[in-house]
Amino acid sequence: MKKFYLTTPLYYVNAAPHIGHAYTTVAADVLARFKRLRGESVHFLTGTDEHGEKIEEAAKAAGKTPQAFADETAAKFSGLWPKLDILHDDFIRTTEPRHERRVQAIFEHLLKTGDVFKGVYKGWYCVSDATYFTDTDAPPDEKGRRLCPNAECRKPLTPMEEEAYFFKLSRFAKPLLEHYRAHPEFLQPAHRANEMLRFVEEGLHDQSITRSKFAWGVPVLSAPGHVVYVWFDALLNYITAAGYNPPGLAAAAASPAGAFEELWPADVQFVGKEIYRFHAVTWPAMLMALGLPLPKTVFAHGWWTVEGQKMSKSKGNFLDPMEFVDGYGVDAFRYVLFREMPFGNDGDFSREAFKKRYNSELANDLGNLHSRVAQMVEKYLGGRLPEGRPVDKPTAQGIDVFAQSEKVAAAMDKLLFYDALGLIWEVVRALNERVDKEKPWEKAKTAPGQLPALFFDMIWSLRAVSVWIQPFMPATAAKMQAQLGFKGPVSWESLKEPPAGAAVKKEAGLFPRK
Ligand code: MSP
Repeated sequence: MKKFYLTTPLYYVNAAPHIGHAYTTVAADVLARFKRLRGESVHFLTGTDEHGEKIEEAAKAAGKTPQAFADETAAKFSGLWPKLDILHDDFIRTTEPRHERRVQAIFEHLLKTGDVFKGVYKGWYCVSDATYFTDTDAPPDEKGRRLCPNAECRKPLTPMEEEAYFFKLSRFAKPLLEHYRAHPEFLQPAHRANEMLRFVEEGLHDQSITRSKFAWGVPVLSAPGHVVYVWFDALLNYITAAGYNPPGLAAAAASPAGAFEELWPADVQFVGKEIYRFHAVTWPAMLMALGLPLPKTVFAHGWWTVEGQKMSKSKGNFLDPMEFVDGYGVDAFRYVLFREMPFGNDGDFSREAFKKRYNSELANDLGNLHSRVAQMVEKYLGGRLPEGRPVDKPTAQGIDVFAQSEKVAAAMDKLLFYDALGLIWEVVRALNERVDKEKPWEKAKTAPGQLPALFFDMIWSLRAVSVWIQPFMPATAAKMQAQLGFKGPVSWESLKEPPAGAAVKKEAGLFPRK
């Protein structure tokens, strides 16, 4: 059975993880948890990108071997994910034999088919971005310097002339354009897809994919002294980790028959916008060269700035996710990431905005609602909802909760996480309004007979909220569900079950005010 396969980029091990890395990985986790809740079988891959000159240099600066250096930083990534409640199924490091062997076999195979060929590379190289540029990509500036064309980088480029192997990327411009046109869901969001389309329409150059001036990379078997270019190596992780057996791979190293087909093609690949060209152009061309199907969707999200500034080494303003996890709890961190800016856009991460959102939406809107409703059920109904079904379905101030559930699911499926949270908060706010309007404390005196049906409806709605927020805030969802008398494992469909006879109790608040 094909699994829902989703991936994050492999993060470079030259620096510790920050909120930018956390963002993409939590996004993938949110989708993975949503799919699991919907009953799908999921495979979620993340990992680290460990080769290349940049890592070699960082290791040298730290006085370590590249492998020892990579081991240390990779552990920081793999150690952070559980603290962010990320449940990945696999963590690939590009220095693992399962990856390296396959990269080597793929290289040799493409050499045979002719999509990889030998030539001389002349041009410019940015060590920091690990990207090659031609004379026209990087024309000299007014002072005659060649600087990295990436506006975020602008570091001096290194002139390059070396014998190298090339990937025949130019051959794939036409099939790529055909694929983009036939599969509008392939590149998302649409405005970034258009950029890629325009780029490919101008024609593609073959790409140098080996280096011989340094050693920290996957060695090319048939060309001693050459190592595989870090991007060509790293992009392949999405299939090497999935157990792709390239022609020529030693039988002892092969994964069992059918294992790869259970995962590939990937359903969603998340990346940041700055590496979209690699994922929207180079990567699908590599797959075409291998005769493999393309991922269904490659989604490029936007970038966070921090307190109005780009995060950078020189500014020393990398934000550590643990600052927020320690201060507000992991769920609040996960929530704010997707509530503060629409997924796909750019936005600013500020401590003040975080605190405001935490207090108004989590402590006030959701936390208060949950505790006051649970408390009133304890007080007025002795902590137990009526048996039977006093209402047909939950309605929050006129919102049909079941219909809303379909909308939330549709937004999640379209990766519109911000919209999904917006729909959920419509219900949270409506429920708060309902309490204010119906004033159960007055009804307890004037019309106590109405309270069982009212709370039955409210608790049912709150249960739905707890299911919807589960992908974003798993710990909070679990706390709410325990207090709302949910029994057994919860799935997306559980919100349909009426809470007949449920035992409701109020425990410590969900989000203490800060
Ligand atoms: N190693 C390459 C990717 C290879 S994938 C086969 C790389 N690594 S990275 O460590 O630089 O990570 C880049 C990714 O981290 C971005 O694409 C994005 O997913 C995430 N982010 C890093 N900084 C970010 C922000 N400031 N804002 C949002 N996401 C960012 O590139």
